[in-house]
Amino acid sequence: MNTALIGLQWGDEGKGKISHYLSDQFDVFVRFQGGGNAGHTIYHEGEKVVTHFLPVGIVHKDKVCVLGNGMVIDPDALIEEVKDVASLLGESVDDICQRGYISNKAHVVTPQALSLDAQREETQKLGTTKTGIGPTYESKINRTGVTVGHILQDTSSSRYREFLSRFHGRIVNTEVLLNRLDSLGREIFFEGAQGVLLDVDLGQYPFVTSSNCTPAAIGTGAGFPMSKVDRVIGVTKPYSTRVGAGPFTSEMSDQEDEHFRHLGAEFGATTGRPRKCGWLDAFALRYAVEVAGVTEIAVAKMDILNGLDFVPVCVGYRIDGVEVRDTLNFPYGDQWDRAEPIFEDWRGWDDEGGHAQFLVQLATFVGAPVKHVSFGPGPEATQSS
Ligand code: IMP
Repeated sequence: MNTALIGLQWGDEGKGKISHYLSDQFDVFVRFQGGGNAGHTIYHEGEKVVTHFLPVGIVHKDKVCVLGNGMVIDPDALIEEVKDVASLLGESVDDICQRGYISNKAHVVTPQALSLDAQREETQKLGTTKTGIGPTYESKINRTGVTVGHILQDTSSSRYREFLSRFHGRIVNTEVLLNRLDSLGREIFFEGAQGVLLDVDLGQYPFVTSSNCTPAAIGTGAGFPMSKVDRVIGVTKPYSTRVGAGPFTSEMSDQEDEHFRHLGAEFGATTGRPRKCGWLDAFALRYAVEVAGVTEIAVAKMDILNGLDFVPVCVGYRIDGVEVRDTLNFPYGDQWDRAEPIFEDWRGWDDEGGHAQFLVQLATFVGAPVKHVSFGPGPEATQSS
């Protein structure tokens, strides 16, 4: 079954861990949006591996990984990542490169884009990851961007020599490759980055990333029709975190925030920044499930809230004194500044996994079944039903 996996919150939901846990079932792993802003952490055979550009399926020797046309790629940073992954897995850099394919249409994050991102942050203060995402997508849409195909053709420059020689023969029309692999019956896994609330169209604009983070981006960012994707797994934590600026309606008190940040090791995998912590915003989750066409939910990091008798959950907002509980009225723009959370206490779970009631309540509230639950960092701590 071709499967998409996406984040339902503000990124950092544990997508890497769930992707890794499921990875045995698939032959091909695809990234279709974003770039070095992503940070997917997994524990593979005892090693902690963090990927930014590569799908987590890269840890498997016999599988194919694709960096799709919708991505923005910093060739230098990608080569560094490949070297790190190779050394952690005890393989050669060429072994890793030779199981990847890169779209000739993906855009290149140039040194200028990196410095522009950092420079703009001085005044714009969105809290970007400073990995060149905004300026690179901007020049793509402007039609002044540089693609991987461009640098491949440019024989006069030696700027990206190592990147081009390492990926010799691997820079192709990945959209055609993916559709052919599908015709041959290969099972394809599309690994989303960031989350629905950071989606440039459907998220909390302007406090968003510059790409689409819903499965809709698979059609454009991988050239693979959504009609051939059989299921969409949405990942959430049983609480919320957010890095960077922007609305965070269900934010915890300072004391709770401090406690859960350390308990959940909530520090950015890309930037190391502390993540703000909040209670689960089930109302926002319902919106995300609805607009992303989620068919099943994975809840990661359940263990972090182990043992609470009751878990506060945000089930709607109050805006200018009016209760909002229908996602048709989900806030936009400045409305977010005035949105106050409406909390309900949901029954918690114990350390032995007596969690069914919370998960049933969650599934009913958001409108999709919970199929995967994770109680710890390694793949053995995740269960499916
Ligand atoms: P950019 O994607 O670096 O331009 O950052 C835009 C916003 O998205 C900032 O608030 C970042 O903190 C946030 N962001 C981007 N990627 C991630 C991610 O993978 N996890 C969490 N937040 C992210």
